[in-house]
Amino acid sequence: MIHVIQGWTDTTGVRDDMQGAPTNKPVTSEEIRRAWLDFFKGKGHLEMPSSSLVPHDDPTVLLTTAGMQQMIPFMLGREQPPRRRLVSIQKCFRTTDIDSVGNLRNLTFFEMLGNFSIGDYFKAEAIAWAWEFVLDWLKLPADRLWITVHPTDDEAVDLWLRTGVPRERIVPLEENWWGPPGLSGPCGPDSELYLDRGEALGCGRPDCKPGCDCERFLEFWNLVFMQYSQDEHGHRTPLAQKNIDTGAGLERLSAIMQECRSVYETDLFRPIVAGVERLTGLTYGASPEQDFGLRVLADHGRGMTFLVGDGVVPSNEGRGYVLRRIIRRAVRYGRLLGLDRPFLTHIVDLVIDRMGKVYPSLIADRERIRQTVATEEERFAATLQAGLALLERWTAEARDRGERSLSGELVFKLYDTYGFPEELTAEILRERGLTFDEDEYRRAMEEQRARSRAAGRFAVAGRALGAALDVPRTEFLGYEATSAEGRVLALQRDGVPVEAMGEGETGVVVLDRTPFYAEAGGQVGDTGVLVGPAGRFLVEDTQSDGAGHHLHLGRVVEGVLQLGETVRATVDARRREDIMRHHTVTHLLHQALQDVLGPHALQAGSLVSPDVARFDFAHPRP
Ligand code: ALA
Repeated sequence: MIHVIQGWTDTTGVRDDMQGAPTNKPVTSEEIRRAWLDFFKGKGHLEMPSSSLVPHDDPTVLLTTAGMQQMIPFMLGREQPPRRRLVSIQKCFRTTDIDSVGNLRNLTFFEMLGNFSIGDYFKAEAIAWAWEFVLDWLKLPADRLWITVHPTDDEAVDLWLRTGVPRERIVPLEENWWGPPGLSGPCGPDSELYLDRGEALGCGRPDCKPGCDCERFLEFWNLVFMQYSQDEHGHRTPLAQKNIDTGAGLERLSAIMQECRSVYETDLFRPIVAGVERLTGLTYGASPEQDFGLRVLADHGRGMTFLVGDGVVPSNEGRGYVLRRIIRRAVRYGRLLGLDRPFLTHIVDLVIDRMGKVYPSLIADRERIRQTVATEEERFAATLQAGLALLERWTAEARDRGERSLSGELVFKLYDTYGFPEELTAEILRERGLTFDEDEYRRAMEEQRARSRAAGRFAVAGRALGAALDVPRTEFLGYEATSAEGRVLALQRDGVPVEAMGEGETGVVVLDRTPFYAEAGGQVGDTGVLVGPAGRFLVEDTQSDGAGHHLHLGRVVEGVLQLGETVRATVDARRREDIMRHHTVTHLLHQALQDVLGPHALQAGSLVSPDVARFDFAHPRP
């Protein structure tokens, strides 16, 4: 065994014995989990539980895609880690390839084995330990292992040579750079381990090696040398402390150790695939098209179960949309496999039966997960047939006209009326060798959004601006003051720009600065009074025009108000305090709902007014 210390001397290819390594190699996925944790605990690592698929503190990422996400605050030196060496098995979800899931390679949900150094060990140990684990614990044949490194990383090449990997099996690859997962964060060059699965799976090209698209070389472990911090503009600065982040796919390692061609044949998937076989009456391996569908159901079944388990609710946005997409895609593949009654709760059960031992919260949440999935399935099933029939007609018509593309308007209609995610329609069209006009689709989507925004504003304000404003944005003073002086920059009487407004007239007043809060985020706008040298304006509501102006809506109750005048703007402070209290109430309620109902009880909307607070959230039961 190599004992790695900083500045270790030549240990080229030396592995005196395999002291400490178990005699038997791990084969089942449970054994692999255990071996991973045992090995790194033996190297002083502390086990961290998997974090949620919903990232805790990073609004720029949709879902957890790597084990390092929960470590970011430690890596950037913002928080103290419980220990400088950490090990985890992290639930991950990647959306990049949803449309190709069903092939032998891609998964949405998977588990990532990781070891991390937070400013502790670096490249030498990360590489030596990876090699030790792979040879002594997994007992993989050294002569079938290949390494890739970033072309600039001579140090990594050197360290791999010292373990005994021959130079011809160390391949420089430009793409060996990892992170950050969101808009900004830690990143660095990486080095990957590959297993050569033999020529039979290869493309046959003489120069085939890691990085080739064929099935021969399987990447199973990525070591990232996190040494930079990258900002939103892509600018990198060296990190004060260097970190290690690694990730190995549990599914791929299981396929390797169980000598399976694909992850779907491993013990992680077999019971699920077998359950889907029973459900459909089909046999896996009998036909490529059916196999594709069976794999879609197995993968998406895992994906939806874990997403809902972590509190995601189907919706048209963000992670809710990801969930909706995979549920609807699964329903459609179910139909193709002959399932024409609701079936997703069976698949959820198969997943929970398989994974519940490792993730007991799935068992506790079984009913909630089943209900959420069943509701979405029902909702979509009702329109699926009608939508598919329409799509058949349109594609036939297009073909009759000799066209290979469908109009974006039609695809939008399928989305808007029948709930077909755009990607699902695109996939169905692709199967028929057709495309659609994406620009037209986006235009139709944008027009509909604009329509609903306009409708919303009209309903709220009742008297929207007649003409856009070309005066500077309003400076908002309301966090410090409820009364302040401001200059009148614009006046509009019933939507018409004017120089003055007289007693009894209604309209909009815009000031250069104001303490009046404009309605936003569900909190109603302020009311109060503007007092000028020759008149008083009663503010009945404050709205924003979306371009940085606070619009004081109301009427002149005394005298006149003129452009250019300085007025004293005074908010009804009692009312504002009542509003603030209700604002606090929504925060308390939000937390309480999460505590009592679960993490899915997230704020979907709210209304905060002086008399009442309304809080919107989704929960699948009364
Ligand atoms: N964060 C690295 C990856 O996801 C380990 O590949």
